[in-house]
Amino acid sequence: MLKQDIRTYGVCIGVITGSITLGVYAYKRLFSRLPPGPFTIPFFGSPARKNELVYETNKRLAEKYGVIFSYWSGTQLKIFLNDYNLIKEAFVNRGDEFSQAPPENMSYFLKFHDRFITVDYNEDVRILKRGILQAFRGLFGSGKTLLEDRIRFELFHKFYNIKDDTPIDVGEFFKALSVNVTCSMYFGKRFEYDSKEMDELFKLSQNYFKWFFVELTLNFTNMPLPFFLKKIIYRKAIQKSKDAIEGMRQWVRSMMEDHDDTEDDLVSAYKKLVPEAKIEEIIDTIMFLLSDPLDVVPGVLSGLFHLVAMHPEKQQKMFEEISNSQSSFLDQSKLPYVRAFIIETLRYANFVSNSAAHRVIKETTLQGYRIPKDADIYANFYAVHMNEETMKDCFIFRPERHLEDNHNIITFGIGRKSCLGEQWVRSQMYLTLVITLQKYRLEPTPGFNKLKYQSDVFHLPEKVELLFIDRNKSD
Ligand code: HEM
Repeated sequence: MLKQDIRTYGVCIGVITGSITLGVYAYKRLFSRLPPGPFTIPFFGSPARKNELVYETNKRLAEKYGVIFSYWSGTQLKIFLNDYNLIKEAFVNRGDEFSQAPPENMSYFLKFHDRFITVDYNEDVRILKRGILQAFRGLFGSGKTLLEDRIRFELFHKFYNIKDDTPIDVGEFFKALSVNVTCSMYFGKRFEYDSKEMDELFKLSQNYFKWFFVELTLNFTNMPLPFFLKKIIYRKAIQKSKDAIEGMRQWVRSMMEDHDDTEDDLVSAYKKLVPEAKIEEIIDTIMFLLSDPLDVVPGVLSGLFHLVAMHPEKQQKMFEEISNSQSSFLDQSKLPYVRAFIIETLRYANFVSNSAAHRVIKETTLQGYRIPKDADIYANFYAVHMNEETMKDCFIFRPERHLEDNHNIITFGIGRKSCLGEQWVRSQMYLTLVITLQKYRLEPTPGFNKLKYQSDVFHLPEKVELLFIDRNKSD
């Protein structure tokens, strides 16, 4: 009898707790003026994602719910902004409210420092970010030729071995280029191709990139579970992530030990900018700043070269513009079509389909909706770039649109948390393209069919093989 009573009590308590939880979630979703979004299962969140890529989910939901939608991923509320003006309103005009990052993002592998880009946004980080930008400008900004010299040197160093009929895996090639461009800028150092050092860094960075984004990927998995449960389920992957990061940290530490502080590079600039910075902080920041140039940029350059090879008439137009240019091609305004081609690549390829998460630290409103404390806000770049109303024929690759009109292309984000590498990447795309087209015509390999893409968070091509036809021999 007693046992039965206890069981009945247990069931009653379970039903009451369940109903209260359901009630709270239903209230939150239906009556609390949250942005619209798909159905939510208490605690587990919304089964918003089907078997599709992140950008496909966001595209589908934006089409259904409009300029702003929300869904729960486990217990985390995610809000997506799908319109340029709304993104500007949040990330630029009201940057104070929308420029923090989720503290749990990447925090478990990055040691805590006095200031860390992307983990916090405070006065120290603002000064650091500005200082790093100035250091970059000092290295390759207007009038400086370090980037051009380095790219020219690396391209010709490697290109001398190219034979017309040999397909080149441009991803591998640009990886080597990016390693030397980045290491020159950060440590004042380059490595010989096929050397032991280059080989070691290739392996380390491949592993690092593969595991670096585990947490970000977990954030977007189809599995509608609270984040802490996902972390338990994926603990092996997380351990691999920690190991890969530790490997890279050791490598950066060894570079710092050999570093000559009189060199004109990022490490020297950092030390001057923040003299009180502990060595571990510099190591971790430099390490954090390695992943994009070593792994994202080669993918972006491969995507760019693939589009060039697939559009022979546009390639010819760029070549003629470059050949006819009287002045230094360092001035991008002198080559408007090349510039337009690059902007269109950034729009059309959508290498990154949304911003990083911006955490709201104080309840606020946006577009008349309640934005609760601790919600994560994302800018949906894909929705801005691929909107038929604002971008006519958006699924057609047409560089000319950027000569006719100004379009909002926000591949690198906008506002305080926007990308530190934007000018660098744009310059590297531009210089690599111009220098290559002066000497080579790019062609797809015979029988080439369709590109495959690498991962969920970044929309980067897996492998691009192209033919480089020497213009001096073929024209
Ligand atoms: C083509 C390659 C790249 C793309 C598409 C890209 C894109 C982005 C995007 C979308 C963000 C997030 C913006 C936001 O959350 O609002 C970002 C942040 C960032 N990017 Fe890049 N990036 C690229 C290359 C680089 C490079 C080469 C660097 C090297 C310095 C870099 C450093 C950063 C940093 C430090 C942040 C975090 C800024 C912060 O949180 O304050 N990125 N990038």
